[in-house]
Amino acid sequence: MEFAEVVRRRRMVRNYDPDRPVPPAAVERLLEHAIRAPSAGFSQGWGFLVLSEPADRDRFWRATSTDEGPPDRWLAGMQRAPLIIVAHSHKDAYLDRYAEPDKGWTDRDEARWPVPYWDIDAGMAALLMLLTVVDEGLGACFFGVPPARTAAYLSAFGVPAAYSPVGAITVGYPAPDQRSPSLKRGRRGTDQVVHHGRWVPVARDS
Ligand SMILES: Cc1cc2nc3c(=O)[nH]c(=O)nc-3n(C[C@H](O)[C@H](O)[C@H](O)COP(=O)(O)O)c2cc1C
Repeated sequence: MEFAEVVRRRRMVRNYDPDRPVPPAAVERLLEHAIRAPSAGFSQGWGFLVLSEPADRDRFWRATSTDEGPPDRWLAGMQRAPLIIVAHSHKDAYLDRYAEPDKGWTDRDEARWPVPYWDIDAGMAALLMLLTVVDEGLGACFFGVPPARTAAYLSAFGVPAAYSPVGAITVGYPAPDQRSPSLKRGRRGTDQVVHHGRWVPVARDS
């Protein structure tokens, strides 16, 4: 698929055909592309948990769901995904990497970091997976693990506490779903968010 078409077609899919697993070759490609993401100092301080077995996916939803009782429409659709990939960041890998001689931040002071690059990089890897999903004719949705469920999630899968789940991605063949109510906001155009040469205030700018 043309790259521009991949970008244009990408959208979050929140309902899946539960009877069509993601082909192993496609899973492999998603992960191979994820690790092509850029990373600060080439730290590559990320980690990916791949859940394709039904028991593992059940464990994920049990660990991360905040609501008791039957799943709402969002959760029911998401639970039909045959694959979940959780992207994690590992801050210590960055602090260690930047304490090396070529970087020299031996004090490991987090105030040095313009923004948390460890989370940025995991997000970049996630985006590459979201784009690869489109190229593979699949659908996906990126979503967060609620902070109140992070400890339960880490413990359910033996993820070391030094790793933060930056986002989970459901993947599968799309089934009809509801448009997100957020989309009513409309896409902000380049005329609203791009400033050439000098930051000229635009509507909704603050
Ligand atoms: C950081 C981040 C967190 C998100 N969290 C959720 C989420 O918890 N649940 C959900 O259904 N969608 C989530 N989304 C998807 C957004 O709602 C979606 O990207 C946005 O509405 C634009 O729609 P589109 O991606 O289909 O173009 C998230 C997206 C991002 C980038």
